[in-house]
Amino acid sequence: MAFTVNDIAQLFPDLLQIRDAGLRERVAAVWDDAIRNGCGGRGWTFDELRAIPFTLLAGPIRMAFVEHLNSCARQCLRIADVLQETFGDRVPVHRDHLLAGSLLADVGKMLEFDKDANGKIIKGAFGDLLRHPFSGVALCYKHGLPAEVMHIVATHSHEGDKVDRSIESIIFHHADFIDFDIAKLLGKRALAAAAAGKGA
Ligand SMILES: [Fe+2]
Repeated sequence: MAFTVNDIAQLFPDLLQIRDAGLRERVAAVWDDAIRNGCGGRGWTFDELRAIPFTLLAGPIRMAFVEHLNSCARQCLRIADVLQETFGDRVPVHRDHLLAGSLLADVGKMLEFDKDANGKIIKGAFGDLLRHPFSGVALCYKHGLPAEVMHIVATHSHEGDKVDRSIESIIFHHADFIDFDIAKLLGKRALAAAAAGKGA
Protein backbone atom coordinates (compact mmCIF):
# COMPACT_ATOMS: atom_id res chain seq x y z
CA MET A 1 0.00 0.00 0.00
CA ALA A 2 1.28 3.44 -0.89
CA PHE A 3 2.48 5.83 1.79
CA THR A 4 0.40 9.02 2.04
CA VAL A 5 1.48 12.62 2.65
CA ASN A 6 0.78 12.13 6.36
CA ASP A 7 2.87 8.94 6.46
CA ILE A 8 5.84 10.62 4.81
CA ALA A 9 5.37 13.63 7.11
CA GLN A 10 6.11 11.32 10.06
CA LEU A 11 9.66 11.22 8.72
CA PHE A 12 9.80 14.77 7.36
CA PRO A 13 7.31 17.04 9.20
CA ASP A 14 8.18 20.10 7.08
CA LEU A 15 6.55 18.37 4.10
CA LEU A 16 3.28 19.77 5.48
CA GLN A 17 4.65 23.31 5.05
CA ILE A 18 4.60 23.01 1.25
CA ARG A 19 1.68 25.28 0.43
CA ASP A 20 0.79 23.88 -3.03
CA ALA A 21 -1.21 20.73 -2.25
CA GLY A 22 -0.38 19.16 -5.63
CA LEU A 23 3.35 19.68 -5.08
CA ARG A 24 3.06 18.24 -1.56
CA GLU A 25 1.36 15.13 -3.00
CA ARG A 26 4.06 14.73 -5.65
CA VAL A 27 6.88 15.00 -3.11
CA ALA A 28 5.18 12.31 -1.03
CA ALA A 29 4.66 10.14 -4.15
CA VAL A 30 8.38 10.30 -4.95
CA TRP A 31 9.27 9.26 -1.41
CA ASP A 32 6.70 6.48 -1.49
CA ASP A 33 8.18 5.14 -4.73
CA ALA A 34 11.77 5.41 -3.45
CA ILE A 35 11.02 3.74 -0.10
CA ARG A 36 9.04 0.86 -1.57
CA ASN A 37 11.43 0.18 -4.49
CA GLY A 38 14.74 1.03 -2.82
CA CYS A 39 17.22 -1.21 -1.02
CA GLY A 40 17.91 -3.39 -4.06
CA GLY A 41 14.16 -3.59 -4.81
CA ARG A 42 13.29 -5.05 -1.39
CA GLY A 43 12.05 -1.75 0.02
CA TRP A 44 12.89 0.03 3.29
CA THR A 45 10.91 0.08 6.52
CA PHE A 46 10.56 3.40 8.36
CA ASP A 47 12.70 1.96 11.20
CA GLU A 48 15.46 0.99 8.77
CA LEU A 49 15.26 4.42 7.23
CA ARG A 50 15.59 6.15 10.59
CA ALA A 51 18.70 4.05 11.34
CA ILE A 52 20.56 5.08 8.16
CA PRO A 53 23.55 7.29 8.99
CA PHE A 54 23.60 10.75 7.46
CA THR A 55 26.52 9.84 5.19
CA LEU A 56 28.65 6.79 4.52
CA LEU A 57 31.61 9.06 3.79
CA ALA A 58 32.36 10.45 7.24
CA GLY A 59 33.40 7.77 9.73
CA PRO A 60 31.44 6.98 12.91
CA ILE A 61 29.05 9.91 13.39
CA ARG A 62 25.89 10.25 15.42
CA MET A 63 23.92 12.14 12.77
CA ALA A 64 21.16 10.26 10.98
CA PHE A 65 20.06 10.58 7.37
CA VAL A 66 16.49 11.54 8.32
CA GLU A 67 17.80 14.13 10.80
CA HIS A 68 20.03 15.59 8.10
CA LEU A 69 17.09 16.03 5.71
CA ASN A 70 15.06 17.70 8.42
CA SER A 71 18.02 19.89 9.37
CA CYS A 72 18.45 21.03 5.76
CA ALA A 73 14.74 21.71 5.27
CA ARG A 74 14.70 23.86 8.42
CA GLN A 75 17.95 25.63 7.55
CA CYS A 76 16.58 26.43 4.07
CA LEU A 77 13.37 27.92 5.44
CA ARG A 78 15.28 30.05 7.97
CA ILE A 79 17.75 31.23 5.31
CA ALA A 80 14.81 32.15 3.04
CA ASP A 81 13.31 34.16 5.92
CA VAL A 82 16.57 36.06 6.52
CA LEU A 83 16.99 36.83 2.83
CA GLN A 84 13.40 38.03 2.61
CA GLU A 85 13.72 40.20 5.73
CA THR A 86 17.00 41.68 4.51
CA PHE A 87 16.61 42.04 0.76
CA GLY A 88 12.88 41.75 0.18
CA ASP A 89 11.87 41.10 -3.41
CA ARG A 90 15.38 41.85 -4.70
CA VAL A 91 16.30 38.27 -3.78
CA PRO A 92 13.28 36.25 -4.86
CA VAL A 93 13.07 32.81 -3.25
CA HIS A 94 10.36 30.32 -4.19
CA ARG A 95 9.69 28.71 -0.81
CA ASP A 96 7.69 25.76 -2.10
CA HIS A 97 10.33 24.86 -4.69
CA LEU A 98 13.08 25.30 -2.11
CA LEU A 99 11.33 23.08 0.42
CA ALA A 100 10.36 20.41 -2.13
CA GLY A 101 13.90 20.36 -3.52
CA SER A 102 15.34 20.20 -0.04
CA LEU A 103 13.17 17.21 0.86
CA LEU A 104 13.92 15.43 -2.44
CA ALA A 105 17.64 16.18 -2.95
CA ASP A 106 18.68 12.93 -1.28
CA VAL A 107 15.64 10.77 -2.11
CA GLY A 108 17.78 8.90 -4.67
CA LYS A 109 19.83 7.53 -1.76
CA MET A 110 16.97 5.08 -1.24
CA LEU A 111 18.12 3.52 -4.53
CA GLU A 112 21.83 4.27 -4.07
CA PHE A 113 22.03 2.46 -0.72
CA ASP A 114 21.60 -1.23 -0.05
CA LYS A 115 22.15 -3.56 2.90
CA ASP A 116 24.82 -6.26 3.12
CA ALA A 117 24.22 -9.75 4.56
CA ASN A 118 24.72 -8.36 8.10
CA GLY A 119 22.19 -5.57 7.59
CA LYS A 120 24.91 -2.89 7.32
CA ILE A 121 24.08 0.02 5.02
CA ILE A 122 26.36 0.04 2.00
CA LYS A 123 26.50 1.66 -1.40
CA GLY A 124 24.81 -0.84 -3.71
CA ALA A 125 25.59 -1.87 -7.30
CA PHE A 126 22.94 0.54 -8.61
CA GLY A 127 24.47 3.35 -6.55
CA ASP A 128 27.90 2.61 -8.02
CA LEU A 129 26.49 3.42 -11.45
CA LEU A 130 24.08 6.22 -10.55
CA ARG A 131 24.65 8.52 -7.60
CA HIS A 132 21.54 9.90 -5.92
CA PRO A 133 21.35 13.22 -7.82
CA PHE A 134 20.75 11.19 -11.01
CA SER A 135 18.34 8.62 -9.58
CA GLY A 136 16.63 11.42 -7.65
CA VAL A 137 15.91 13.35 -10.84
CA ALA A 138 14.64 10.17 -12.52
CA LEU A 139 12.21 9.59 -9.67
CA CYS A 140 11.09 13.23 -9.71
CA TYR A 141 10.53 13.22 -13.48
CA LYS A 142 8.45 10.07 -13.18
CA HIS A 143 6.15 11.80 -10.69
CA GLY A 144 5.81 15.12 -12.54
CA LEU A 145 7.87 17.40 -10.30
CA PRO A 146 8.57 20.83 -11.79
CA ALA A 147 11.94 21.49 -13.48
CA GLU A 148 12.82 24.03 -10.75
CA VAL A 149 12.66 21.25 -8.15
CA MET A 150 14.53 18.73 -10.34
CA HIS A 151 17.22 21.38 -10.82
CA ILE A 152 17.85 21.46 -7.05
CA VAL A 153 18.05 17.66 -6.92
CA ALA A 154 20.35 17.52 -9.97
CA THR A 155 22.74 20.30 -8.91
CA HIS A 156 22.82 20.10 -5.09
CA SER A 157 26.06 18.12 -4.84
CA HIS A 158 29.38 18.29 -6.70
CA GLU A 159 27.67 17.11 -9.90
CA GLY A 160 26.22 20.63 -10.04
CA ASP A 161 29.50 22.50 -9.65
CA LYS A 162 29.68 23.34 -13.35
CA VAL A 163 26.05 24.45 -13.55
CA ASP A 164 24.66 27.91 -12.75
CA ARG A 165 22.63 26.95 -9.71
CA SER A 166 19.30 28.69 -9.09
CA ILE A 167 18.86 30.77 -5.91
CA GLU A 168 17.00 27.87 -4.31
CA SER A 169 19.74 25.41 -5.28
CA ILE A 170 22.47 27.72 -3.91
CA ILE A 171 20.61 27.89 -0.58
CA PHE A 172 20.15 24.13 -0.37
CA HIS A 173 23.71 23.37 -1.50
CA HIS A 174 25.19 25.44 1.32
CA ALA A 175 22.80 24.10 3.98
CA ASP A 176 23.68 20.57 2.83
CA PHE A 177 27.41 21.21 3.10
CA ILE A 178 27.09 22.82 6.54
CA ASP A 179 25.85 19.46 7.80
CA PHE A 180 28.24 17.45 5.61
CA ASP A 181 31.39 19.35 6.57
CA ILE A 182 30.45 19.11 10.26
CA ALA A 183 29.81 15.38 9.86
CA LYS A 184 33.22 14.89 8.24
CA LEU A 185 34.92 16.81 11.07
CA LEU A 186 33.10 14.85 13.77
CA GLY A 187 33.85 11.57 11.98
CA LYS A 188 37.55 12.45 11.85
CA ARG A 189 37.56 13.35 15.55
CA ALA A 190 35.78 10.11 16.45
CA LEU A 191 38.31 8.06 14.47
CA ALA A 192 41.22 9.91 16.13
CA ALA A 193 39.70 9.36 19.59
CA ALA A 194 39.22 5.65 18.87
CA ALA A 195 42.80 5.33 17.62
CA ALA A 196 44.12 7.19 20.71
CA GLY A 197 42.05 4.90 22.96
CA LYS A 198 43.52 1.81 21.31
CA GLY A 199 47.06 3.14 21.63
CA ALA A 200 46.73 3.91 25.36
FE1 LIG B 1 22.97 14.61 -1.52
